[in-house]
Amino acid sequence: MVTEPQLVRLESGSALVFPTLDLFLVVTKVPLPKPSICHTDITLRYKIVIDTIHVNNYIVTMTIWSPQLPQTDGTLTQRLVEALRDDVRTGRLAQGERLPTHRELAEHLGIAIGTVTRVYAIAQREGLISGEIGRGTFVRPLQNEDSEHTGKDEVAGSIDLSKNRVARYSRDSMLGEGLAALISKPDLAFLLDTYQPAAGVPRHREVAADWLSRPGFAVRADQTLVCSGAQHALFVTLATITKPGDTLLAEQITYAGVRALASLLHLRLQGVAFDEYGLIPDAFETACISSGAKVLYCIPTLHNPTSAIMPAERRQQIAAIATRNGISIIEDDVYGFVPGELAPLPIAAYAPERTFYVNSTSKSIAPGLRIGYVVAPPDSVSRIANTIHSSTLEATPIMSELATIWIESGAAAETIKWKQEEIAARHALALSILGDLGEVSKHPSCHIWLPLPEPWRSEDFVTQARNCLVIISPSEAFVVGRGSAPHAVRICLGAPSDRRQLEKGLEILAEILGNAPEPGFTTV
Ligand SMILES: Cc1ncc(COP(=O)(O)O)c(C=O)c1O
Repeated sequence: MVTEPQLVRLESGSALVFPTLDLFLVVTKVPLPKPSICHTDITLRYKIVIDTIHVNNYIVTMTIWSPQLPQTDGTLTQRLVEALRDDVRTGRLAQGERLPTHRELAEHLGIAIGTVTRVYAIAQREGLISGEIGRGTFVRPLQNEDSEHTGKDEVAGSIDLSKNRVARYSRDSMLGEGLAALISKPDLAFLLDTYQPAAGVPRHREVAADWLSRPGFAVRADQTLVCSGAQHALFVTLATITKPGDTLLAEQITYAGVRALASLLHLRLQGVAFDEYGLIPDAFETACISSGAKVLYCIPTLHNPTSAIMPAERRQQIAAIATRNGISIIEDDVYGFVPGELAPLPIAAYAPERTFYVNSTSKSIAPGLRIGYVVAPPDSVSRIANTIHSSTLEATPIMSELATIWIESGAAAETIKWKQEEIAARHALALSILGDLGEVSKHPSCHIWLPLPEPWRSEDFVTQARNCLVIISPSEAFVVGRGSAPHAVRICLGAPSDRRQLEKGLEILAEILGNAPEPGFTTV
């Protein structure tokens, strides 16, 4: 019997057992799901659900887990971990659920007990489950990984659909195998102890050139320079071929990172009209003549934020116009891996003498590698190398080596294949919830551009979504100069770590869309 009142701190996802009372408490912090009950008062963001389960013998809800093994080449352990990971992420295994003991699961699946022990140990290391001596193994609450990096704007417990990253492929052995290969390299000390050439280690440049090549687009190693991500590749290119005060042409709505670079380098960014197929050739030609610009930045494949893909014919026209007007092109192809060879050839294939082709491993493999590449016209290679040297001496050779190992071993290709499938599934999910979004959003992509119906304005919709704990980006974030911002928002489908979260976020957005904006004003 409890004789004195006790104050117990209840953490979300915790399970408290009071053996003397035969009482088991499960505490769940549930975000309020419906926009209709959304409220700006942050105290109303959650309801706390406390389930009490009286137990006589410690047996709480236990799942006899029947995994669906993925059809991959991995070992049984790897495939079981993958199935477990998938079931936790998709919610088939609910947080707090107790998994069978090692012996029970081994008997249920007809496998060795040691295999189950290994699977649970790996899943525990990954934070998917937790084992508590005497109590069993439980599914852990999913962390909102996105919130770790969102800085001051972060809203705790929110579904962040604003970061343009591509769902993580986390076959656990991939990182380990890559790092083991890195450690066993005979030239590891050489990579660690010496400064490398600014353009990158020659072998890394060769492997990267081969990786970026495709039929009809042959990339040469001596034109490929290793950078610290695509953002750095864009920076060194712009810093090399422009000077303060120059005009930089770009699609009227463009990647926010290039707006930041234009401001940093004191360039005048001028928007060029575009439609659902990308830059409009006539508008580009007019801008070339009237602006005196010498450089165009564009994203022909899965444009960020609209996800438009420029057809081959337009790419040839853009290349021809640039050639006629003496314009250099910076072609950003970081999303090119999504359609892969289904995408038309890069513009660089049509105007190699004037195109700086930029790509990176951030979206296709992992952003934390910070390895990007610029393929420069032959006469600009040494100048770009000098800018790399001035800005960072060289991209980190160890990370460049890891990227090279993953490319050579096939791990990069495996990751890309997984991401292509995941993106296709997420994109189909988005269209099924939000409806057909027209030509511009028809390509499987990790971000979509949602045009807003009357009377929604972009900022109002973003605010309302934020009040409902869904974070998305307003069109203003991508507008070049003082051009008007369309009534649209960008939604990043690859941002949440699991599809269940994405689905929840999209359903909330769909419901907001169906309602009128809440009346109110913040400025007096
Ligand atoms: C179009 C585009 N280019 C470049 C980048 C930056 O890529 P990285 O992480 O390789 O610097 C991004 C990131 O979102 C992007 O969307």
